[in-house]
Amino acid sequence: MTLVAAALAATALFPAAAQDAARGAALAEARGCGGCHGAAGISEVANTPSLAGQPAEFITLQMILFREGLRQAAPMNALSQGLEDGQVEDLAAHYAALTPAAPPGRGAPDAALAERGQALSDRLHCGVCHLPDFSGRNQIPRIAGQREDFLRHTLAQYRDSQRRGTDTNMNAVMHGVTDAEIAALAHFMAQQR
Ligand code: HEC
Ligand code: HEC
Repeated sequence: MTLVAAALAATALFPAAAQDAARGAALAEARGCGGCHGAAGISEVANTPSLAGQPAEFITLQMILFREGLRQAAPMNALSQGLEDGQVEDLAAHYAALTPAAPPGRGAPDAALAERGQALSDRLHCGVCHLPDFSGRNQIPRIAGQREDFLRHTLAQYRDSQRRGTDTNMNAVMHGVTDAEIAALAHFMAQQR
């Protein structure tokens, strides 16, 4: 956790005014981020998250976790190498400014599954941190309208302690949640606007 604290302290030194969405857009183009995350930040690739409308602080933090090897995901660990903190902040400003939307191939809602997901979300207080409309804030991600396959994958990773953030909130939330419950939560969240 000391590494994370150091990474965070380093980011905090960069004033918000230094972020530049236009510079971030050019860098995303040069680095080919859109090939996986979508040209407008809406992913059409399995298990790959949409980034449009994510809070800038969340994107910045995750990029630093990838770069420092604290979040393991092979493509992103390699792709974040050599990016300076200022460049990460530009990329974050770019994606935060894009309009979120559901992926084009999103399946039809299953009312019974969504209802089970909503009941679980109420019981586990997902909206307390992610906001009642699940749009996220600061270091807490937007989960509304995210790809369902990615949500299933990443929620199982938190449960199985294969993914950790700067705190263990998500690992605690997901403790003991079954695969069937994860499927319901992911379906409910993916169907939100
Ligand atoms: C080869 C495909 C690929 C490319 C290119 C790519 N990414 Fe990713 N990215 C992924 C995958 C897959 C994940 C999900 C990893 C996981 O959690 O398993 C991811 C995750 C992320 C996340 C975490 C988002 C979240 O909701 O958890 C961010 C931020 C991100 N990428 C930013 C970028 C940026 C910025 C670029 C360009 C510099 C980029 N990516 C290029 C495949 C890619
Ligand atoms: C105590 C606050 C808190 C609660 C309650 C909470 N979350 Fe989270 N959640 C977070 C934080 C903080 C992160 C970012 C952690 C990190 O850096 O990995 C996160 C990350 C996530 C992610 C990763 C998204 C991405 O794009 O990478 C998903 C999915 C998620 N939460 C879903 C949920 C669901 C579903 C619930 C309810 C079952 C829930 N959360 C309850 C704080 C919370």
